[in-house]
Amino acid sequence: MEQPAIHQHYDTAYDEDTRLREGLGRLELARVQEIARRHLPPVARVLDVGGATGVHAEWLLDDGHTVHLVDLLPGHVERAETRLGGHERFTASVGDARALPVGDASVDAVLLLGPLYHLTDPADRLAVWREALRVVVPGGVVIAMAINRFASLFDGLAQSYLFDPAFRAIVAQDLATGVHENPTGDPRWFTTAYFHRPEELPAEATEAGLVVRETVGVEGLAHWIKPLASAFDDGDARRDVVLDAARVVEREPSLLGLSSHLVTVATRPGIESFRSPSA
Ligand SMILES: C[S@@+](CC[C@H](N)C(=O)[O-])C[C@H]1O[C@@H](n2cnc3c(N)ncnc32)[C@H](O)[C@@H]1O
Repeated sequence: MEQPAIHQHYDTAYDEDTRLREGLGRLELARVQEIARRHLPPVARVLDVGGATGVHAEWLLDDGHTVHLVDLLPGHVERAETRLGGHERFTASVGDARALPVGDASVDAVLLLGPLYHLTDPADRLAVWREALRVVVPGGVVIAMAINRFASLFDGLAQSYLFDPAFRAIVAQDLATGVHENPTGDPRWFTTAYFHRPEELPAEATEAGLVVRETVGVEGLAHWIKPLASAFDDGDARRDVVLDAARVVEREPSLLGLSSHLVTVATRPGIESFRSPSA
């Protein structure tokens, strides 16, 4: 299956480079960092699939890991190379998460922070999970993100989009099927995507043959309260309070559908792997 809507969205309508560097994107970035850090080995070969312009690759390199970034969009890979190409532990290539351009059991960790929510066909998502399983070493870790089934409903309220009947029609389909389509082309309303129910993400990992360690909500309620973005400005002491508010409910089953994003962490069976004491 081709993914033409993604090219249109990212190449012309939306700047992915700044998404996690400003506003409440900084909450998502901080939470993904802390979730990933408790599962990554101290020094790992990380495959960042759907790595876009390198926002995660940058801190992974700072942490001492070796990173190969793969993304479907040549424009994203070019920008990642411009930013990080001088780094001796960084490489990047254009590629598809469903057929990764790397060898079997060649990395210690795979990040899937994006591709799963751009694939609406369950067979495509399973292919992504199976590729991650193929390329990671036994005991290695796969860290995968999804957009929550209820994200557009909550975003619609938070940003007043829900008062537009065109957006309500989009949300109605999202809630019923998980398949998000945006015939208006308005970039604020995202592009073709799949929104997972919380139980679906670990179920996909299990179906692919991985062993699930945990599934957590990333942002909690805070992502929907837009004025909280200023808590992430330099020196604002409220930052830790907002992060704690996400942490304390991250595994609460009754609230897994609240966060904008979900993360499932899973391992390839084989040998006992690194796990930090806090995980
Ligand atoms: C929302 S961005 C996420 C970027 C970054 N990983 C993050 O967490 O902020 C999704 C990225 O996944 C990429 N992508 C979508 N489908 C893909 C596929 N089948 N294979 C590889 N990359 C894909 C897109 O080009 C885009 O750069």
